Amino acid sequence: MPKRLVYLDNAATTPVRPEVLEAMLPYLGPDAFGNPSSPHRFGRAARAGVEEAKRSIAAALGADPGQVIFTSGGTEADNLAVIGCALAARERGGPFRVAVSAIEHKAVLAAAHAVVRLGGEEIILPVNGQGEVAEDGLSEALARGVAVVSVMWVNNEIGVVQPVARLAARCREAGVPFHVDGVQAFGKVPVSLHDVACTLFTVSGHKIGAPKGIGALVVRDRHAVEAIIHGGGQQFGIRPGTENVPGIVGLGAAVELAAREQAAFAARVAALRDELERRLLAVVPDAVINAAHGQRAPHVTSVSIPGTDSEALLMHLDLAGIACSSGSACSTGAVEPSHVLTAMGVPRELGVAALRFSFGKENTLEDVETLIGALPKIVEKVRALSAVLHR
Ligand SMILES: Cc1ncc(COP(=O)(O)O)c(C=O)c1O
Repeated sequence: MPKRLVYLDNAATTPVRPEVLEAMLPYLGPDAFGNPSSPHRFGRAARAGVEEAKRSIAAALGADPGQVIFTSGGTEADNLAVIGCALAARERGGPFRVAVSAIEHKAVLAAAHAVVRLGGEEIILPVNGQGEVAEDGLSEALARGVAVVSVMWVNNEIGVVQPVARLAARCREAGVPFHVDGVQAFGKVPVSLHDVACTLFTVSGHKIGAPKGIGALVVRDRHAVEAIIHGGGQQFGIRPGTENVPGIVGLGAAVELAAREQAAFAARVAALRDELERRLLAVVPDAVINAAHGQRAPHVTSVSIPGTDSEALLMHLDLAGIACSSGSACSTGAVEPSHVLTAMGVPRELGVAALRFSFGKENTLEDVETLIGALPKIVEKVRALSAVLHR
């Protein structure tokens, strides 16, 4: 019998949903392939698809269609927000300085480092043991003056939810643009920008059943950002370049579906996540659930298994047909804990032994059972090997 494959890596990416593919197909074929900037009928057909997607996304997020700027994904949207705000502030004679949390995705952290390379400054906002941004750090950054504050809604490794509405209100009071990376939040927790006074919001397609390479930045104040790539005047010049029409249409369809299904999805995957954690602790009693006491999104859990290293666990799980992620990074051949776990103060030996399981709409209880069935033997093997190596 072929091995049952289990995919528990939905925070990394998801397959394209059939409804999304169906919506995209006309824009790849002879009827609506036009350049959306062309005034003729081919262009107008493509433009109609783009405008419809903007309306869907704006309605789902609680924004205006004119505020939706399409990008090549979450990474570009994050870069545009952080670097674009820094450049705009410098242009106005404001602070060439950005503040980002220590547990941001590399798309935000590396963008902040790029600002430093351009001659600016970065402030890294610390987090507590549960991965929540410390608000005194924000107060200090606002007092110094910054071009933008960027804090993610939901962390991709540990699932921690930040109080973005409160942080946004504080930034608004200080007159500072606030960017929210919503890549892991949208479709997983209730998201309405009516309740969050952020200036900028990032969404990515491939985390919600749209293709890779499409995303959007909601820009609620066009003066807050300057373009980081330059070309024709598309998208108000904020993000020029011929739009990825099929991708945009796919993103529109995926966003609409994710918004409609969010509550049911969250309830279903939260039950699976809780079951995974309960059963995992039953078979590996010394395992540690990272950020267990923080407020968490329903689709992600990060688990450290003492006496192991996550790369070895990943390899054995893959051989068993189970896909997940590690909470560590392999740099120069050695396994190092991720910047997220390090920033939370997770001890190194637990940081290098962290696995991330993330659920999607296709997962079932059987997936959890398959994982729990396979895990004890794998843990035993990896621990035995690790004990030999470290003797
Ligand atoms: C929180 C977060 N931000 C940004 C990104 C980058 O998005 P993309 O893969 O669309 O570039 C990811 C993807 O892993 C993410 O999880």
